Amino acid sequence: MNQLLTQIEKYKEDIKAFEVKSPDDLEAFRIKYLGSKGLVKIIMGEMKNVPAEQKKEAGQLLNEFKIFTESFYENLAQSVGGPSNKSVSNIDTSLPGDALPLGARHPISIVHNKIISIFQRLGFSVAEGPEIEDDWHNFTALNLPENHPARDMQDTFYISQNPDWLLRTHTSSVQIREMAKGVLPLRIICPGRVYRNETISARAHCFFHQVEGLYIAENVSFADLKQTLYFFVKEMFGENVKVRFRPSYFPFTEPSAEMDISCLICEGKGCNVCKKTGWVEILGCGMVHPKVLENCGIDSNKYTGFAFGMGIERITMLNYQVKDLRLFSENDVRFLKQFTGA
Ligand code: DAH
Repeated sequence: MNQLLTQIEKYKEDIKAFEVKSPDDLEAFRIKYLGSKGLVKIIMGEMKNVPAEQKKEAGQLLNEFKIFTESFYENLAQSVGGPSNKSVSNIDTSLPGDALPLGARHPISIVHNKIISIFQRLGFSVAEGPEIEDDWHNFTALNLPENHPARDMQDTFYISQNPDWLLRTHTSSVQIREMAKGVLPLRIICPGRVYRNETISARAHCFFHQVEGLYIAENVSFADLKQTLYFFVKEMFGENVKVRFRPSYFPFTEPSAEMDISCLICEGKGCNVCKKTGWVEILGCGMVHPKVLENCGIDSNKYTGFAFGMGIERITMLNYQVKDLRLFSENDVRFLKQFTGA
């Protein structure tokens, strides 16, 4: 113990005598006394040789010595105008810290979650299905038999090992899986990723996201479909957005329609996004074709239903005025961090 005390006193004398005239001298001081192999570390290591009953006293002594050396170093640092940049011990711990960059939710996820929550309020529940599908669920059961020309509308990626397998081209395949379970009435939305063999551009990508909706019960009518979608549009885009339905064709619905909303960018005056028409298409929909019901074992004389399908990217682009679809999959943090939402 006494030996330790003498040692510390000697070191203190040495420290006081240490000449520091430049940042380099300061660094030499730091290395000699406070570095990872410095004397403070070494003498602290002496603790293990101190008998148990003296440990407390020795610990205090050593601690005092450490603090003495550190504050001596800080004073020296100030006298030479700051530590050399290799030093780390001159840190002001009272300064506020730098904010850590916080992650943000992906805009597609924000819009996906919003769409789901709107339909959940109408009593729809979420159903999901596989991204690798078979021909039956993606096409045939949806009234698109082999050689049906409408298959060409969707450039399909086939899985080379098995020509019956493909990457689903739409989330309508999940309708089939859910209907085939035979539990009615059925009120579901099916969000998910879909794939098409398209050339990548500002307006098209080889994968994107859809939300499919399906309601099957007795006496479901086109009026129910319209009312459901009106509610969706008001909740998603606000009260002032106008809606129109245009007759269309899908093999799995009859009658079929496409729904447009008044352009959010130019408010209907005409711009590039709406191609000067004032309207943008946001989804396809219709009454589920009786053949599709029968394909899933549902009695089409007793049950009717409506379905709709929309692209999440399209809605996100309109919502945030994003003009290039590719931004969603490039993962550029400067783009992604601009979006806020749940
Ligand atoms: N599956 C269609 C597509 O990917 C979208 C669609 C249209 C879904 C009409 C539907 C519907 O359920 O009724 O282009």
